[in-house]
Amino acid sequence: MFAQLMQPKSQNITWHPSHLERVERERLHGHRGATLWFTGLSGSGKSTVARRVEQLLSERRAYVYTLDGDKVRYGLCSDLGFSAADRSENIRRIGEVCKLFTDAGTLTLAAFVSPYREDRNRVRAILPAGDFIEIYVAAELSVCESRDPKGLYKKARAGEIADFTGISAPYEAPEQPEITLSTHEEDVDASAQRVLAYLERTGALAAA
Ligand code: ADX
Repeated sequence: MFAQLMQPKSQNITWHPSHLERVERERLHGHRGATLWFTGLSGSGKSTVARRVEQLLSERRAYVYTLDGDKVRYGLCSDLGFSAADRSENIRRIGEVCKLFTDAGTLTLAAFVSPYREDRNRVRAILPAGDFIEIYVAAELSVCESRDPKGLYKKARAGEIADFTGISAPYEAPEQPEITLSTHEEDVDASAQRVLAYLERTGALAAA
């Protein structure tokens, strides 16, 4: 069951419980559902590590799905830009999607800059306790800027992109993330293995 239900605008909708309860889905999958939320600056390595985690988990036949800016900002959130309000709405919608995937017993990987602590904490609050695993991808701004895989830092420094995280918009690091990855000190595989070790340690990879 969901941790928290928001009050809908309409009075005339009814909540129907699912036929297949989450615990039954988890039993079928052989592992628990959870949301692994990767947060960090653009170029910090969020998507790269998430992809490697996805690969390792699928090799173990886990039900896994990755959400990132490419999937979401072309569809569900194509009406949103990068103002603080738009980013909050982006994260709110993604959080609701993560809640559904997690309820479906999927290991859901979300890789978004998600620069505002309050927005991330709101996602944590709508998921059942323990199901939101915050992974801080903690690469220094100078490292991300030197990588600049999409050439966006260069454009932001030249004033061609407004509200660019780390340059002209803030990034609020998590205060108590479940996992911190120092992607400038360890390679992608080592980071991914640490995420898997966390899932094993907390029992997420064991059947319900
Ligand atoms: S979030 O802040 O709302 O979480 P999201 O993760 O969806 O951002 O998108 C970030 C990606 O969009 C970055 O990796 C970068 O490629 C691109 N981008 C374009 N404009 C900006 C901007 N102003 N700030 C940060 N990233 C931007």
